[in-house]
Amino acid sequence: MTSGSALLRVGVAGAAGRMGATVCEAVEGADDMELAGRADPALGVALADILGDCDVVVDFTTPDTALDNALACVRAGVHAVVGTTGWDPTPLRTIPSHPPRANVFVAPNFAIGAVLMMRFAAEASKYMAKAEVIELHHDRKVDAPSGTAARTAELMDGDVPIHSIRLPGLVAHQEVILGDVGQTLTIRHDSTDRTSFMPGVLLAIRRVGELPESPVIGLEHLL
Ligand SMILES: NC(=O)c1ccc[n+]([C@@H]2O[C@H](COP(=O)([O-])OP(=O)(O)OC[C@H]3O[C@@H](n4cnc5c(N)ncnc54)[C@H](O)[C@@H]3O)[C@@H](O)[C@H]2O)c1
Repeated sequence: MTSGSALLRVGVAGAAGRMGATVCEAVEGADDMELAGRADPALGVALADILGDCDVVVDFTTPDTALDNALACVRAGVHAVVGTTGWDPTPLRTIPSHPPRANVFVAPNFAIGAVLMMRFAAEASKYMAKAEVIELHHDRKVDAPSGTAARTAELMDGDVPIHSIRLPGLVAHQEVILGDVGQTLTIRHDSTDRTSFMPGVLLAIRRVGELPESPVIGLEHLL
């Protein structure tokens, strides 16, 4: 946003969570945005309480909440950027668009390295016989397989089995191993800190209002 124009008012759903708290810090550190509200049952604040103050809501909550939150945003004319994984965004395709039109952007992974990993894995799968994915995450992650692994497998040729590992000490990691006669190829991405997701989240906040269609799924569509 250019100087002199209004700040983008950003609300965060799941603001007390690991990702939500990191997003709040990133929004507060962005010159073109202001943190307009923090919604989280842990803070005693419902999403409905902050919607009226927001242009965009970022959702990092739980798989059983993300769809309802996105629908509530659209109905209130507020754009939504959703990072929550393990839910099905299909119903968003059929909701009628009332003015003011609100868009939904969903990404299973906001880290640029993970987007590149998915792209390279999709390309490599066209040429190598078989592939499997190992995804490794911290032990408080509720969904398995991860949204990133599911999306990677979807983009790749052939049937790609996914193995999930949950351990303390991990953040978010994935290995795509491709095998063919006498050789293997391994493509690996590691998010060692949640700040790895923030440039992608801020990009999505800035761009969600101008999407040509909704929902748009995947950070690759904004690059
Ligand atoms: N897209 C990405 O790049 C990316 C990266 C990391 C994590 N994630 C996903 O983000 C989600 C959150 O991860 P986390 O580690 O921060 O989890 P977390 O458990 O630390 O945080 C989730 C928060 O959501 C809150 N919450 C629950 N219901 C809510 C509601 N109705 N309204 C508002 N808040 C609500 C919880 O109280 C909690 O504080 C998970 O689905 C995870 O897989 C996505």
